[in-house]
Amino acid sequence: MAEGDKHLLIVDDENALREAIAERLADHGFVVEQADSGEQALQRLSEFAFDVIITDLRLPGIDGRQVMDAALQRYPEIVAIVITGFGTVKDAVEAIKQGASDFITKPFQFDALLHVLTSAFEQRRLKSENAYLRSQLEDRYRIDGLVGRSTVMRDLFHLLETVATTSSTVLITGETGTGKELAARAIHHNSPRRANRFVAINCSAIPETLLEAELFGHARGAFTGAVGNRQGRLEQAHKGTLFLDEVGTMSPALQAKMLRVLQEREFERVGDSHTIKIEVRVIAATHSDLAKMVAEGTFREDLYYRLNVIPIRVPPLRERRDDIPLLVRHFLQKLSEEAGRGAMTVSQDAMRRLMAYPWPGNVRQLENAIERALAFSHGRTQIDVPDLTPEIQSQSATIDSSELWFPLDGMDFEAYIGGVELTLIRRSLERTQGNKRQAAKLLNLKRTTLIEKLKRLEPRAAD
Ligand SMILES: Nc1ncnc2c1ncn2[C@@H]1O[C@H](COP(=O)(O)OP(=O)(O)OP(=O)(O)O)[C@@H](O)[C@H]1O
Ligand SMILES: [Mg+2]
Repeated sequence: MAEGDKHLLIVDDENALREAIAERLADHGFVVEQADSGEQALQRLSEFAFDVIITDLRLPGIDGRQVMDAALQRYPEIVAIVITGFGTVKDAVEAIKQGASDFITKPFQFDALLHVLTSAFEQRRLKSENAYLRSQLEDRYRIDGLVGRSTVMRDLFHLLETVATTSSTVLITGETGTGKELAARAIHHNSPRRANRFVAINCSAIPETLLEAELFGHARGAFTGAVGNRQGRLEQAHKGTLFLDEVGTMSPALQAKMLRVLQEREFERVGDSHTIKIEVRVIAATHSDLAKMVAEGTFREDLYYRLNVIPIRVPPLRERRDDIPLLVRHFLQKLSEEAGRGAMTVSQDAMRRLMAYPWPGNVRQLENAIERALAFSHGRTQIDVPDLTPEIQSQSATIDSSELWFPLDGMDFEAYIGGVELTLIRRSLERTQGNKRQAAKLLNLKRTTLIEKLKRLEPRAAD
C-alpha cells in the first residue's frame, strides 16, 4: 500500500483479540485506532475520515451493522470489513449487500485478514461510483437548502421547523458563510406563509440614504429622482416574511422606524403622511454581537429585545466537523452536475484535510474550495489532496491555532508546550488503549521518543 499511511479503525469488544490484531496491523504499516464499543466507534467516525473500518457485527449496544452503516453513509470511500461469528454467514451476506467490502469469520488467522484487506483495496476503485449512488443525501439530513448531519445541525433543523409554525420575530446570529440566509428561507418555506413572499433586504449593501426608501417605499417627489409612488420591501412582504440582513448596520433613525413597525405594525412611505398597516413576519440576521453593540450604545436596546424574541445561532463549521463529508458530497453533486461532469468522489486523505481545516469563511468557503478542487481534478473522477489549496493540504498535521490560549500577562513557554505535549500523548494513549507503539505511530514519533517524553513530562507515567 504505497499511497501513504492508511488510517484504520478496529471495533471489537473482545479486548485481547482487538489489541492483538491492532498490534499486528500497526506492524504492517497501518495507523490503527481502536474502539471497544459501537458508541465509541460512532464518536470517532464523526471526527475523522478513516480509510478502513473493521468491525465485529456483534457488539453490545450499538451493533456492528449500525457502525458500518454510519461509516459508509459518511464516507462512501471507506473500506468496511465485518467480522462475523461462526455460522452467521447470513449476516455477512446482508452486510455486503449494505456496502461492506468483505467479511471474515471468527476465529481467523491474521494472514487471512490481511488478504481480505489487500483485495478490498484493489476492488475499491471499482465500487466508488456505486457507493456514491447508494449514499444519496437523505431527507432527514436536510431542510430546504440546508444540509447537515451533526447533532447541532439536526437540533437546529428541529428548531427551525418549530419556529416556522409561529409568527414570532427571529434573530439569527452566526459568522459569515454559516448559512444564516438559508436558515431564514427554511423558516419561511416551512411556515403557513410560504404561499406569500420572502423578501430579503441587506442593510449593509444599500447606501444609508437609499435604504429608508427601499424599505418603506416613497411618495412621488419625496426626494430628487422619486418620480412615482413606490412600494417598499416591507409592503412587498405583506403576509409573508421580511428578511432584514445585517441588521446591525442600520442607522439610528432607521432603527427607530423599524422599532415602530415591530411594535405598532404600521409605517409611512417616505414623503407621505398616509399610515399603512402591515402584517409581516420579520427575521433579522447579523454576524455582529448586537448585545455588545447595545452595551456600547450603537444599537437600540428596545429594538434589540423586539428582534431577539427567538434567538437562533448557526454554529461555525469548525464546531460541527461531522457535517463536512455530507456538505462536500452535496456541493460535489451540485457542482459536477452544473459542469456537466459525471459522479465525483473524494479520497479519504483529502477528506481528512478538509475536516481538519478551521474554515474561517465557513460553508461558503468550503463550497468555493470544492469548486476549485473540481476544476483542478479535470479529467479524473476523484478529488485528491493536490487539488486542494496549500493551506488546506497542510492542515492535517497542524493544530487549530484559533483554539490556543494566550493569557493576558504572558506565560511560561516551556511549561505550556510541555503541557500540550503531555495532553497529546495522553490522548493518543487513550485512543490506543495504552499501547505505546501505536500511540507513537499516531503521533508520528518513534516509540522511544514517546517514552522519553513521557519520562520527562510525567515521570511516573512512563513505567
Ligand atoms: N448547511 C448548508 N447546506 C448547504 N449549503 C449551505 C449551508 N450553509 C451554507 N450554505 C451555502 O453557503 C453559502 C453561504 O450561505 P448563506 O448566504 O446562507 O450564509 P450567511 O450566514 O448568510 O453568510 P453572510 O453572513 O456572509 O451573509 C451559500 O452559498 C449557501 O448555499
Ligand atoms: Mg447572509
